[in-house]
Amino acid sequence: MNKLDTLSDLERLAEEGGGEERRRRQHQAGKLTARERMEELFDRGTFEETDKLVTHRCRDFGMADQIVPGDGVVAGHGRIDGRLVYGFAQDFTVFGGSLSETNAAKIVKIMDLAVQEGAPIVGLNDSGGARIQEGVLSLAGYADIFLRNTLASGVVPQISAIMGPCAGGAVYSPAITDFNIMVRNTSYMFVTGPDVIKTVTHEEVTKEELGGAMTHNQKSGVAHFAVDDDHECLALIRELVSFLPSNNLDDPPRLESSDPADRADEALDRLVPESPNQPYDMLDLIQLVVDEGHFLEVHRHWAPNIIVGFARLAGRPVAIVANQPAHLAGTLDIDASVKGARFVRFCDAFNIPLVTFEDVPGFLPGTVQEWGGIIRHGAKLLYAFAEATVPKVTVITRKAYGGAYCVMASKHIRTDFNYAWPSAEIAVMGPEGAVNILYRRELDAAGHAERLRAEKVAEFREKFANPYIAAGRGFIDEVIQPRQTRRKLISALATLDGKRAKNPPRKHGNIPL
Ligand code: HXC
Repeated sequence: MNKLDTLSDLERLAEEGGGEERRRRQHQAGKLTARERMEELFDRGTFEETDKLVTHRCRDFGMADQIVPGDGVVAGHGRIDGRLVYGFAQDFTVFGGSLSETNAAKIVKIMDLAVQEGAPIVGLNDSGGARIQEGVLSLAGYADIFLRNTLASGVVPQISAIMGPCAGGAVYSPAITDFNIMVRNTSYMFVTGPDVIKTVTHEEVTKEELGGAMTHNQKSGVAHFAVDDDHECLALIRELVSFLPSNNLDDPPRLESSDPADRADEALDRLVPESPNQPYDMLDLIQLVVDEGHFLEVHRHWAPNIIVGFARLAGRPVAIVANQPAHLAGTLDIDASVKGARFVRFCDAFNIPLVTFEDVPGFLPGTVQEWGGIIRHGAKLLYAFAEATVPKVTVITRKAYGGAYCVMASKHIRTDFNYAWPSAEIAVMGPEGAVNILYRRELDAAGHAERLRAEKVAEFREKFANPYIAAGRGFIDEVIQPRQTRRKLISALATLDGKRAKNPPRKHGNIPL
């Protein structure tokens, strides 16, 4: 056999992965194979595979006779919209995509290259976890990857897709990365599976209930997106990358937008209801303001009382953080604080300007929240906004009460431009709560307590439920007509283009975890 034939044979073996029958089963389960995934993830014909011929070195448990070139992971680089991205896809058809010493080394190699070249890393997970036959060598491989995930954090964007099993300690690589996408019905993540749980706690739970896509999108917040199948998953990764810079020294890529920068939507003037306690949908506001109404919502199913996600303004990617009065009246609770804080920190690390839409009556009261540590968790959001040095612009649409006023990118924590709509109410608390405290004795003594209460509430509302005291102090730069919001934001962000703020030198801060 000549040398060219040897190469072709080895390449063919690598491309066959675990063989026709296992590939058929992969397809039958509704999943693409690792190689198909990589081809679809990258711009057509741009995927370049590395270490295709790497094999494992295990000689125990009959493994010497089971050698598949590539060893259960397809790794390399390609282009997404012409931009360099590194990636790996675990191949479930080869030893269940389990992680061996050599397969981990392939992943580590592309991670190191990605950091060196300042390119995002995408990991497509579909694996039975540590390769059992390799013992501690496999565990070492995981730890090598976790270390790279940690060191790459804040340097290059890291995106994980869970497209099959991801169990045991293996979950901690996706957990460290910036975004997790889960495919409905075919993926699950857990630290210990249903069988162990049954033995230890006697709970009976299915894999789907324990760690399926919706469990992690709705209950735990581990996952940021849920998609219906592999195709949607890969398309979403491509879209997500389109909003992100390649690394922490780059700016996010700008696109041309045909949406006029001065588009003034009158519907915004009617968005906030007359009654201060009536909810409205903050997503309507976002869609009316951003380019072409296109908003990529992150963590849509978790903590819906805060909205986070990406959009563009005059073609410039922006990160939106917004209270959602349509859920829990837009209060901040533990989950919302954690969700917002992690998103803000990601965007700050990657030079994505923060646009905050604020309508927040305060932190959610109650023992569940207090005992769960809302003090600790709420502090995360405060800390994240305060330390962020990217351009920051805030628009208060209605309530900005109490500590939540300070937290939600207020002027005092270095927000560059703070706008308020005329409907804004900036106060220590809502009028009803304030009157109950300030006039408790009078209300207890009065015969017509309800009338007195109504009078005092009206008086308090008149005095504080407006943006003008804050504007008079310069805490609000300008009170704007709602319809001007898009134009104002675009203009503010253009002036902030050159912003280069810095925090004092330190090893790292100590965000309350
Ligand atoms: C070696 C493995 C494997 C593993 C699966 N396979 N997991 N080989 N090491 N960890 C092999 C199977 O032997 C089988 O080989 C093929 O992959 C497909 O597996 P099946 O069991 O037939 O598939 P399925 O029924 O779909 O079940 C998938 C599965 C199951 C749920 C993932 O395979 C499973 O429970 N595997 C073990 C999971 C686990 O406990 N892993 C260790 C977790 S701890 P053949 O030749 O028959 O095709 C961990 C620690 C990480 O990962 C530590 C980091 C700190």
